[in-house]
Amino acid sequence: MRKRLRRIALTLVAALLLAPAASSLARAAEAPLPTQLPGRNALLMGADWYPEQWPEVRWETDLKLMAAAHFTVVRIAEFAWSTMEPVEGRYDFAWLDRAIRLSEKHGLAVVLSTPTATPPAWLTEKYPDTLRVEPNGQRVTHGNRAHGSPTSPRYLEHCRRIAEVLAKRYGRDPAVVGWQFDNEYGYGQMSHDDGTRKQFQDWLQARYKTLASLNEHWTTAYWSQTYSSWTQVPIPVAGHNPGLMMEWKRFVTHAWAAYQQNQVDVLRANVEPRQFVTGNFMGIGFDAFDHYEVTKPLSFVSWDAYVGTGHLDPVAMGMSHDAMRGLKRQNFWVIETQPGAVNWQSVNNFLDKGEIRAMAWHAVGHGADEVSYWQWRSALSGQEQYHGSLIGPDGTPVPLFDEIAQTAKEFALAQAAFRDTSPRSQVALLHDYESRWAIDWQKHHSRFNAVATSRAYYSALRRRLQSMDVVSPYAPLDSYELVVAPGLNLTPEPLAQHLLGFVKNGGHLVLGPRAGMKDEYNALLPQRQPGFLGPALGGRVEQYYALEKSVPVSGALGSGEVSLWAEQLKASAPDAEVLMRFGPSNGWLDGQPAVITRPHGKGRITYIGGVLDEKLVGAAAEWMVDKSGLTPAFGPVPDGIHVTPRQGGGKQVFVLINFKPESQRVSLPRPMKSLLDGKDTSVVDLARYGVAVLLDSKAN
Ligand code: GAL
Repeated sequence: MRKRLRRIALTLVAALLLAPAASSLARAAEAPLPTQLPGRNALLMGADWYPEQWPEVRWETDLKLMAAAHFTVVRIAEFAWSTMEPVEGRYDFAWLDRAIRLSEKHGLAVVLSTPTATPPAWLTEKYPDTLRVEPNGQRVTHGNRAHGSPTSPRYLEHCRRIAEVLAKRYGRDPAVVGWQFDNEYGYGQMSHDDGTRKQFQDWLQARYKTLASLNEHWTTAYWSQTYSSWTQVPIPVAGHNPGLMMEWKRFVTHAWAAYQQNQVDVLRANVEPRQFVTGNFMGIGFDAFDHYEVTKPLSFVSWDAYVGTGHLDPVAMGMSHDAMRGLKRQNFWVIETQPGAVNWQSVNNFLDKGEIRAMAWHAVGHGADEVSYWQWRSALSGQEQYHGSLIGPDGTPVPLFDEIAQTAKEFALAQAAFRDTSPRSQVALLHDYESRWAIDWQKHHSRFNAVATSRAYYSALRRRLQSMDVVSPYAPLDSYELVVAPGLNLTPEPLAQHLLGFVKNGGHLVLGPRAGMKDEYNALLPQRQPGFLGPALGGRVEQYYALEKSVPVSGALGSGEVSLWAEQLKASAPDAEVLMRFGPSNGWLDGQPAVITRPHGKGRITYIGGVLDEKLVGAAAEWMVDKSGLTPAFGPVPDGIHVTPRQGGGKQVFVLINFKPESQRVSLPRPMKSLLDGKDTSVVDLARYGVAVLLDSKAN
C-alpha cells in the first residue's frame, strides 16, 4: 500500500515537474491573464450590490452613483435564492434580467453568483436533510446562511438545478463576465450526519483498499483503535488519531471540491468560455480545506480581504495576497473588501482616512486585478446592519465614498500599464496546509504558531527583496533561487525528492523548525528529522524541545535568542557547516548546533533548528539573500515604504505606499513615469498612506 501510494505521488510530482515552465512569469508573456478581461480595463473596481433587497425604483440611482464613481463591476445574487425561486420549481428571474440590463446600461460588468450559500426556507423545511448537522449532532436552524449540507445528495441536486437554470439563462449574456460559486464555502463546518460519515468511510475504502493497510498506517493497535469494519471509523471530533485527523481533512477538501464541481460542471456546460468561474476564499488565515486542491478547476482565485480590528498590516495582508496568488500561481481578484469597518470583531474600528485607498493599491501591487467593496448599502434589517458600506441607509454616499471613487478613477488612469503584468519573485515561501494542520493539532507548545513562524521569514525576506511568492511545496520551483520552508512537517519521500531536485539544480532550500518529521499519513517517519532530506543536509535533528524560556544562540549570524521551540542538531558530513550554536540552557542544548548548512549538488540545503528572534531572522534572511546573490526588485527605500513590483508585457510597474505616520521621500533608482500625476520623476514624496504608481520603462 505504502509503495503504491508512493508511486501515485511520484507520478504526480513527475507530472508537475514535467509541466511546461508553468510559472506565472512565463504565462504572463504568452497568454492574456484570466483575471484581465478582454475589452475591459486591466484594473477593475466594483461593489457587492443586492438589488433584491431594495425597491426597483432605487436601482438606477445606485448604478448611476457607481458609474459616476468610475466603478466597473457589480457582483450580484449570491444570497438571492428565495427571490429567484420563491416556490419550488417556480422561478422569477424577471427582476434579475432587469438588474443586469440596468447594470449594463451603466457600463458595469456583472459577476453573477450562484445562491447556494443560502437555501430558501421552503427547501430546508420540506427537505430537512439538506441542513447540515453540527459536531454535537444538532441540525442547524434556517436563516443564518451556510446552513446547507455540502454532502447531502438532495442538497447537491438542488444546487445543481439552480446553478443550471442560471447558467442557461445568463451563460450568453453579454453583460455577465463571470460567475462566483456560492459564498465563502467552508465557512460552515462539514456536516456530521450519518450519511456524511458513510461517505467518509467509502472514501477511505477507495483510498486504502484494505482495512489492514489503514490499520497499519494509522498504528491503530495504539489504544485498541483497530478497525475490523469500515463502518467503525468515526468522524474525528476534537483530538484523535493523527492519521484519521489528516484523512478527515482530506475528505473535507474532497467534499468541498465535489460540492463546487457539482456546479462547475453545469456552468461550464452551459456558459460561454469567456465567462470565468471563481470562488471567494478567505486568505491564509482560513484553512478549513486544502485550497490548492479546491481551486484547481476555477478560472482564477478571488478572495475576501478584510482587516477586521486594527489597521492594514502590509506584511500580514501582503502574505495573504501572495498566498492567494500562489494557489494557482496567477493574479487574483479581491471580490470583497471592507469599506471602513466590519461588524464581526470585538472592536470594529474604522480604517483611517487614506487607508482604504492604500489598501486597494496594496492589493493591486500584490497581484489583484479587481477590488470590490462589500457592501454597497446595508440592508435595513439584515444581520449585518452595522457593517461598513458605500452609501448610508438614506441612500446617499458616506464620507469614505469620495476616497473610493478617487481610487477607482486612479485605477482607470493607470490600468493600461498593468495589462499582462504580475508580481514576480526569485524567492518562494512554501505554504502547506497539511503540515500546518499536523502542527496545529499537536502544537507541543501552545504558543507555537506555524503561520507566524513562516510570516517572520516572509517579512524579513520581503523587506530585503520587495517581492515574495507563497506557493505549495509541490509547485514547480525551477524559477526560484531560494526556497524557504519553515515548518514543512509532512515530507513524504516524493516531496523530498522534488525539493532535492531544486537543490541539485542550484537552488538554496532553507528548512525551518519541525521540518521533515512525518509521512503522508501524518505518521512519524522512521528516521530523525529532516527525514528523507537528512542525507543531503549531512545532519539531523537529535532531539526537539518545547522551551519554557528563551535560549541564547550565537554564531555566524550574530547572537540572540531562540524561543518556543529548539532543535538540537548534529552535523555529520565533513562539509556540513555549523552556523549557530545554542548557549547555556537545559544542559541538553548547551553548545549544540542550532543552524547547519551544506552544499548539495549545485545548490545548498540549510536547517534552522528553532524559532529565532526577529533580529536573527533578519540576519538569516540577509545571509540567504547574499548567498543567492539576490537584489531588491526596486532598490533601497526608507523604512515603512511598501514596494510591490509587477512585470510582464515588456513593462515593469511599481506600487509604493508609505505606511509611516510622517511624510517620506523616496529616491527612485532611475527616472520613471508617475502614473497618478503623469510626471516623469526621479523622486516621490509620500504622505501617510500616500501611493505612487511608477512605470519603469527599463523592464528587466
Ligand atoms: C464576508 C461575507 C460577506 C459579508 C462580509 C462582512 O465574509 O462573504 O457576505 O458577510 O463578510 O464582512
